[in-house]
Amino acid sequence: MKNLQQKKFEKNVQRARTANACANQARSRVSQLSTSVHLSIYQRGAMKVRIFVRHYARGTVVGDIKVPGKKPTRADRINRSNMASHAKLYHLDNQFKLFNPSINTVLDVGFVPGNWSQFAKFRLCQVHGLEESQFSSKCHILGFDMLFGQGPFGVSTMQGDIYSNSSHIGIQNHFREQYVQRLQRNKSAEPEAYFAKEQQQVELVSELQKLNINSDSDWKPQLMMSDLAAPFLQDRGFFNNTQTRPYMRTGAHANLGRPSKGDLKSYLDLADAALVLACSTLAKKGSLLLRLAKVFDNDPELALLHQRLGRVFKQVTPWASESAVRQHNIQERFFVCQGKLNDTVEPKTIW
Ligand SMILES: C[S@@+](CC[C@H](N)C(=O)[O-])C[C@H]1O[C@@H](n2cnc3c(N)ncnc32)[C@H](O)[C@@H]1O
Repeated sequence: MKNLQQKKFEKNVQRARTANACANQARSRVSQLSTSVHLSIYQRGAMKVRIFVRHYARGTVVGDIKVPGKKPTRADRINRSNMASHAKLYHLDNQFKLFNPSINTVLDVGFVPGNWSQFAKFRLCQVHGLEESQFSSKCHILGFDMLFGQGPFGVSTMQGDIYSNSSHIGIQNHFREQYVQRLQRNKSAEPEAYFAKEQQQVELVSELQKLNINSDSDWKPQLMMSDLAAPFLQDRGFFNNTQTRPYMRTGAHANLGRPSKGDLKSYLDLADAALVLACSTLAKKGSLLLRLAKVFDNDPELALLHQRLGRVFKQVTPWASESAVRQHNIQERFFVCQGKLNDTVEPKTIW
């Protein structure tokens, strides 16, 4: 009896050893296949943005054993989408010089989880020669999203729906207020006396009233980035209903936020909503970076969108990242629109 048990035990040990050897062999093969490209930007120690793209070997054959590929964890998937998002903006900026010394106010529409805002802040600090702590003295970024999210330190955020007119008005009021506050800051140092503060407040209100939407565009952002799409995976606030419920609702309702018939058409609608906002809120000569997460390459409506953009901007360049995976002619598409022709454009005139 004991002998039989001993034999079984030894057999199991032998099996475990063989399995372990195979797994080790497979692991070394997988790590050979994995590639990682590290692209790091350092800014005088104040901020470090690291962009890296990692490809996992999805299954491989070792000898005659098929080893299943490493399934990326949730954290891996979140990191991957964040880094891909950073990398695309990095390439676009390299090619089109989106962030240059003439830009100091940026509107980031669909900003959660904040990769683009973070990159924008980093680049604005770089082009204006600012330390991170001095960022707000010269530059301003507003992140707008349907989800509740915290932007990088020093970036203002606003929650709302792009399809709502009151959201557009809220964004405009925010930039007007910021503009007047910046003027006041430049005029004098912060007054100590309560009376002086009150007086400044009254002046601020009267200046705000003077700045109506058709007036000169000094208060308007010079760059608008629009990345309206389904949100990335939730990465924080799981115990918090304010953060978790919207993710659950967007995940559970296939048609939520898809006002048109087709899934792909919803991205064209979101792009149109961003264009309407740009018509009233973007400064003259300003730029719009528009991302459509998924479109049919040969959709005639895409060509119409291109035409509409051409009526508002001097130069419109379609762009697609090299890494974008094309599946059944469906692809991610960017439009880089530069040189807004007029201060305020009536949307009716471009449709
Ligand atoms: C792909 S994510 C943006 C990622 C971001 N650019 C980054 O790099 O971190 C798209 C965002 O658009 C937002 N969004 C989608 N539809 C919206 C709408 N109708 N109004 C406002 N935001 C919307 C989603 O909540 C989501 O956070």
